Amino acid sequence: MANTAETESAGLIIRQKEPTNLETPFYLEVESYLTPTGLFYVRSHFPAPRLDLASYRLRIEGAVRNPLSLSYQELRDMPSETRVAVLECAGNSRVFLVPQVPGAQWEEGAVGNAEWTGVPLAALLECAGLEDDACEIVLEGADRGVPAEKPIPPGQISYARSLPRDKAVQPDVLIAYQMNGHDLPLDHGYPVRAVVPGHYGMASVKWLTHVLAVREQFQGYWQTSDYGYWAYLDGKPVRRPLGEIKVKSEIARPRVYERLAPNQPYTVLGAAWAGESEVTGVTVSTDGGRTWAEAEFLDPGRRYGWRRWKFDWLTPKEPGRYTLMSRAKAADGSAQPDQHDPNYATYVITHPLPIEVFVDGPAGNSG
Ligand code: MTE
Repeated sequence: MANTAETESAGLIIRQKEPTNLETPFYLEVESYLTPTGLFYVRSHFPAPRLDLASYRLRIEGAVRNPLSLSYQELRDMPSETRVAVLECAGNSRVFLVPQVPGAQWEEGAVGNAEWTGVPLAALLECAGLEDDACEIVLEGADRGVPAEKPIPPGQISYARSLPRDKAVQPDVLIAYQMNGHDLPLDHGYPVRAVVPGHYGMASVKWLTHVLAVREQFQGYWQTSDYGYWAYLDGKPVRRPLGEIKVKSEIARPRVYERLAPNQPYTVLGAAWAGESEVTGVTVSTDGGRTWAEAEFLDPGRRYGWRRWKFDWLTPKEPGRYTLMSRAKAADGSAQPDQHDPNYATYVITHPLPIEVFVDGPAGNSG
């Protein structure tokens, strides 16, 4: 049965009340491979639109030979696929940037790993007869409003993002109606959303109503103004849309400022993911990045899913403040950089995140 409840989310941290922006306490996410739906972060630019299932249509138009208008039931009747994929907001971990930057102050929990069920976008584009000269596919949601980041276009706009044709026709991109085996909750895009594995979360358009094949690069607000970065063409900065998730790992346990007993075994836990590639290794530092040692994986490598990992640490005898960090590398040869890349401004925060903890003295007093 379809879930139209306001929200299923419980125990999340409010980053913004309206529109709903909720963060997962990341330490809870390593308890299971899949992030429970009720714990999955919510990132919305506008209030969630309430779409009526009876009148819902998914329109596939533009540079196609046979435009389609599918009802919810017609979509559900098509052959479906189920895939595990990480969604990570491009602004995840923004709170770690010093000095502080504008935007939601996400800690480690604007990321989750869920199982998604739906129809491959490729199958829909095939039915619609995608024209050879279509270069991008624009995905548009039913939510509307005035966006927050400057420069702000006049009037209300809808949330829309485009995918390059090559990515859109890969079988992994889903037009999904289920999350972790149940109908999508309202906050996660009920009744239908895109899930673009390997790309930052902004590509996975919720409350999806329009799929538009275009012959020119889409220059929409969330493609250029927001969710863009500076690339260099012949040494000159040019604006490009964010796309693939970069390799990253995060420490779930211990938590920031957790107090630990001295000279005791402690299992450091975390998760790592790598966009279009596969995570092949994670190293951990317990001395602020001076030395690093290999962590052990708890999950097998799986494209688009994350890998939880552990590191057995003997806490220091010496009481005091210690900084833990983790760093992942991927099969494509990429690794987490030492520093945040300023070309990404307030996005793509993938340098090793410092997690500070206190080791107590023998009597339970920290040094
Ligand atoms: N789709 C619509 N229609 N409106 C939105 O505001 N936010 C995007 C994306 N899809 C958004 C959207 C962003 S920035 C992210 S990170 C993901 O949805 C978050 O998906 P979730 O809320 O299910 O975790």
